[in-house]
Amino acid sequence: MGIYVTIAAMPNPIRVLFLAAEADPFVKVGGLGDVSAALSRALRSLPDSQLDVRLALPHHGVIKANARPLEMFPMRYGDREVTVQVSETSVDGMPVYLIGGEPIAAVGSVYSSNPALDAEKYSFFSLAALQLPRILNWEMNILHAHDWHTALAVYALLLKRWDGEMRGVSSVLTLHNLPYMGGDVTEILKSYSLPVAQTDLPDWAHALPLPLGLFAADAVVAVSPTYRDEILTERFGCGLQDFLHRRKETLYGILNGIDTLAYDPATDEAIPFQYTAENPSIREKNKAALQTKLGLEAGPLIPVFGMVTRMDKQKGVDSALEVLRKLDDLPWQFVILGTGDPELEEQARTLQKDMPMRVRVESRFDAKLARQIYAGADMLLMPSRYEPCGLAQMIAMRYGCIPIVHATGGLSDTVNNSNGFLFKTDTPRAFRGAILKALTAFSDRDAWIARQKNAMQTDFSWGRSAQTYFELYQSLLNKKP
Ligand code: GLC
Repeated sequence: MGIYVTIAAMPNPIRVLFLAAEADPFVKVGGLGDVSAALSRALRSLPDSQLDVRLALPHHGVIKANARPLEMFPMRYGDREVTVQVSETSVDGMPVYLIGGEPIAAVGSVYSSNPALDAEKYSFFSLAALQLPRILNWEMNILHAHDWHTALAVYALLLKRWDGEMRGVSSVLTLHNLPYMGGDVTEILKSYSLPVAQTDLPDWAHALPLPLGLFAADAVVAVSPTYRDEILTERFGCGLQDFLHRRKETLYGILNGIDTLAYDPATDEAIPFQYTAENPSIREKNKAALQTKLGLEAGPLIPVFGMVTRMDKQKGVDSALEVLRKLDDLPWQFVILGTGDPELEEQARTLQKDMPMRVRVESRFDAKLARQIYAGADMLLMPSRYEPCGLAQMIAMRYGCIPIVHATGGLSDTVNNSNGFLFKTDTPRAFRGAILKALTAFSDRDAWIARQKNAMQTDFSWGRSAQTYFELYQSLLNKKP
């Protein structure tokens, strides 16, 4: 009986609207762009799942897609109106809606350095996107938002439900990075005539999009089980730990995957020599090619450390530079690829100036070099202070590049002693200890190759996570009257 009722009540297909600031291949700044694209694809290719997943993105100036204009409509903003322009395109058969308008055009890039402009941009996007089901005449079942940029859609949905509209729609908010909560939206909410609800959030949090979304969401999903537990603590909870504690029952942790087709050393054309877990020693040729390309001495026995990262304090770039500087009595080489905080970039360049024979700093976005580092470096350094999930360590392992990581968040959930090295306390000393351990292990070739095989064979595909999200959608819809 229970099962019969469940099946009868379940919409088929389940219609899910993904809202994200970025999604590959349209626009990608960081991990969020990988995850929103790969997860939506994985959900649609789950066997027997019957999911109609669609994606809405802001129509950023940098998006070059061929999109067809679909609809224009006004939204009231204070005593004037702003026009929303919806265009449609697709990727692998998935409909993608691009939402344009003045607040979106006002920020040329995906994110600006002005929190107020970003708050306007993403509030506009979130509220306009919530109108899509009406415009498309498409009965949405799940609104699935990502991070602060789209959290206001979840909040506005709750307000609508309180008013008796969209009662059948459940909401999921995936949390990729708790400290980024968005800028003050107090005035923006007023302009869009959205009241500030009474909540159990701390007072300060009522001004910010992410906490309002966390309050309103039927389910909040952190991007790894460990990060889910960490944000309940004072150290990682950013002042919301008590609030999150009260919602533990609807707080989940689902590990991200990586696109194992796109990241496959057996077929990757960006690397000079393809290989599989059966013959990881071919990597040595990629290592030599990498060393040569970077103008470093090409020696198979010199350990090469790589970092592919946003240059950000979160990522522990400063701590990596500090620790390496003091390991000058040992042979190693180091290449870091990434952009971000100008101060960190400068620190990295200083290390290169001081150690020109062994350090290379590549401050740019270069997807090809990233792959060559994964395929040629011996070890990946990832001493992140916190890491909700982390993708680089998974890609590295798929390429047999052994990660040395701080045991936090998704790093704890993906790296273990058989496929990498972890250090527990977040101190340069502990990090140094892990590097020394890895260097010792590196000198035992057979054991190292066994470790590389373990890393390459760890399953980081999206299948299991997508299935877990799907079950979450079902359980939310089951709770609907
Ligand atoms: C954010 C997090 C990172 C995570 C990514 C995708 O960039 O910092 O840990 O892997 O989002 O979820």
